[in-house]
Amino acid sequence: MKPSVLIFDSGVGGLSILSEVRQLLPHLSLHYLMDNEAFPYGLKTDEELIPRVLQVCTSAVRELKPDLLIIACNTASTLALPQLRQQLDIPVVGVVPAIKVAAALAAEQAAEQTDNTTAGCHIGLLATPATVNRTYTDDLIRDFAGHCNVRRFGSKELVQWAEDWITHQQPPQDLFTHLDQWLRQPEPLTHVVLGCTHFPLLKAQLQQLWPNVCWVDSGAAIARRVADLLPAGTAADGNGFLQCFWTDIAKEPGGAIRYLEALGQLSRCAVLPADNFLYKNQFV
Ligand code: DGL
Repeated sequence: MKPSVLIFDSGVGGLSILSEVRQLLPHLSLHYLMDNEAFPYGLKTDEELIPRVLQVCTSAVRELKPDLLIIACNTASTLALPQLRQQLDIPVVGVVPAIKVAAALAAEQAAEQTDNTTAGCHIGLLATPATVNRTYTDDLIRDFAGHCNVRRFGSKELVQWAEDWITHQQPPQDLFTHLDQWLRQPEPLTHVVLGCTHFPLLKAQLQQLWPNVCWVDSGAAIARRVADLLPAGTAADGNGFLQCFWTDIAKEPGGAIRYLEALGQLSRCAVLPADNFLYKNQFV
């Protein structure tokens, strides 16, 4: 049997991680689970989110029996990783903002240009309103970007625009107005961390509007981490299965299903049984 991985997010964002995992490790079977009933996570309090994430993830692991869980949601990982690891007996890989990578790249570039690694090292963190304010994020910045000036921006709009892009192919209308001033002032940002898994889904549009900014996300690094943790496949193994699950009985996620179908045939597509989730009606 091929090893299987459960990839979890509140919405379509985790698909940006799933596509990297599929590309590097096509032999793995992938379950994609979105908690669309509680979307968006980035506007919820810690007190609402912690029990919700623990409940949905532990129930799904019990039901689907994956070999590894990826929390493909920075908002959930920066809050609940320790509790999840405590409650589950499989490896849990958490997606968190790639501050370390961006800070190293920015320092390298600043050093080449100015002979001084601290001057001109300006990086941005673009994430959900919840993630930009987390202690976990403060610690990442303190530990890995002490030499940089880090400017944060919490955007609920970008999350919704990424959902609309995947669901209706509706391009974001106000991207330029939304971000341009933050990107340029007081100093131009050279590197921006896409600290929400929804945002790499808009990377082509971001690159087109701001080609001089280096947009840094965690997808490829997460896929490499999974490769370290699960047995390597061979070409002879063929592709693993793809499955899609969601939590909202009333809202089948057509966009996510189409995105997954473009990667391969879906062997299962279902709302997970409602009574799996104790907190089901909490956000209705
Ligand atoms: N995709 C999620 C993240 O990486 C959160 C989006 C949301 O539900 O607000 O943080």
